[in-house]
Amino acid sequence: MARLIDNPLTVAKDHILLRLRFDDAPAPSPGQFINIRTAAFTDPLVRRPFSIFDYWEGTFEIVVRLIGRGTRLLGEMRAGAEVDALGPLGNGFTLIEGGRALLVGGGVGNAPLFYLARELERRGTVTDYVYGARSTDLIYQRERFASTVSRFHLSTDDGSEGRRGYCTEIGRELLKRGVYDRIYVCGPTPMMEGMVRIASESPAPVEVSMENYFGCGIGLCSGCTVETPSGLRRACVDGPVMDGREILWDSVSGGR
Ligand SMILES: Cc1cc2nc3c(=O)[nH]c(=O)nc-3n(C[C@H](O)[C@H](O)[C@H](O)COP(=O)(O)OP(=O)(O)OC[C@H]3O[C@@H](n4cnc5c(N)ncnc54)[C@H](O)[C@@H]3O)c2cc1C
Ligand code: FES
Repeated sequence: MARLIDNPLTVAKDHILLRLRFDDAPAPSPGQFINIRTAAFTDPLVRRPFSIFDYWEGTFEIVVRLIGRGTRLLGEMRAGAEVDALGPLGNGFTLIEGGRALLVGGGVGNAPLFYLARELERRGTVTDYVYGARSTDLIYQRERFASTVSRFHLSTDDGSEGRRGYCTEIGRELLKRGVYDRIYVCGPTPMMEGMVRIASESPAPVEVSMENYFGCGIGLCSGCTVETPSGLRRACVDGPVMDGREILWDSVSGGR
């Protein structure tokens, strides 16, 4: 069980930031998620998974895109509300010490990469961060990203701010110019697939955070199954962080 510390904060069009304190939860690894039941007894009964955007001393932050009934109910909560939340769940990104990392986030998929970038910087890793959004009104917590990472690159699909086009194109250019020890990607499924393809010549491992549709979120329903050459993987327990080069992308259903 968790409690909402502040009222939901609107951070971009249709995006809110929630700050939660759990009664008893271990410190999360970047890339892990929490599973929230948005209504106690009525629809929607299923829990919703949300990446951990940031964490410090028992406080968890998540960014929620208001997309359907469950997320809109979260947006109606007020400070002090009890939240039926489980977590942290799933695995996390591999943290490196020192070296250089390329992080590429698309839309609400930037959420798990902020806490990751902060932890990498703390370990002396130089981070090149590419933030992609459809348009300027959908960019959230930009100042926090820009002041945390080593180099911040921005793209919007419509050119309303930063470079016009997909964030993966900035990723392509950075990979041509520099050598990275690890690449981290989160965003819509086609964007992650595209970035894995772009990075095919790079010797760096590519980790992606899968955000396909989840059912139970705890390994029981097989609703989140992804195919890999070595067999089926459940994204909720074997992930959400996976080796991007191992995923058979045609098998991935749904996603942001
Ligand atoms: C591991 C993981 C981490 C996630 N982290 C975040 C996060 O940090 N912030 C965040 O806002 N969301 C995140 N999501 C997605 C989030 O869980 C869904 O958006 C949410 O469950 C939708 O609930 P809802 O009741 O509002 O929408 P529903 O009423 O269930 O759906 C409303 C509409 O949105 C579509 N939809 C539902 N889920 C998704 C999805 N995942 N992608 C694209 N379309 C969808 C449905 O098809 C439907 O049309 C994450 C998902 C996973 C699996
Ligand atoms: S969501 Fe049920 S097994 Fe993964």
